Amino acid sequence: MLNRYYEAARRHFRPFGYISVIFALQQSPSFESFSMGNALRKLDKTLVLVGLMGCGKSSVGRRLAARLGVGFVDSDDEIAAAAGMSIPEVFERFGEPGFRDGEAKVISRLLRGPPRVLATGGGAFISPLVRAEVERVAISVWLRADLDTLWSRVAGKPGRPLLEAQNPRAVLKELMDARYPIYATADFVVDSHAENSHEVVVDDILKGLAALAGQKGKDKGAEA
Ligand code: S3P
Repeated sequence: MLNRYYEAARRHFRPFGYISVIFALQQSPSFESFSMGNALRKLDKTLVLVGLMGCGKSSVGRRLAARLGVGFVDSDDEIAAAAGMSIPEVFERFGEPGFRDGEAKVISRLLRGPPRVLATGGGAFISPLVRAEVERVAISVWLRADLDTLWSRVAGKPGRPLLEAQNPRAVLKELMDARYPIYATADFVVDSHAENSHEVVVDDILKGLAALAGQKGKDKGAEA
């Protein structure tokens, strides 16, 4: 919605410059859109999506990047490209410790790139080293989902070595119990439900970004 409005405003008011675009956005159906517009223009750090397998990091990340007009990158894809093999092959050949080592290095490299949207593998943020680096240079968002939602998205889909188990749903539940308190340290959280479209989640992230920018503005004011 915002995107459509912003694009239309930009095209229509281009001859009158930036101020006209802001004016046009203020006329949009909700003022919230305007503050989301602010968030769109202020992505100066990479936005890191964290959360368990199946929470939608890659699908949401791609859409979010398009809305923000920035690039998108997926750490698992980058690991596979760097290793020249699939993620299950990396696990098979180097074990989980080898995978984690490569994952930390790849994410560190990606965080040194331009501001963009980065979807991480579900275990990445659990590493204290990765977490510290994300905290230092990026903005983290936890896509939280309940067990049924996650299960509905990963059940029967190959490519996730940790779920190659007797009872993959039970493994997913164990990972939730162990990891959710850690994901909760992200800068903010957005809920992803099976019935929500990815666009709804993208909107919620944009609102979270706007709120974060507002909060930072207030903190700065308090310091002055
Ligand atoms: C993992 C999640 C996977 C992948 C690897 C390990 C994890 O990524 O990095 O299989 O530890 O949760 P997705 O979360 O994108 O499925």
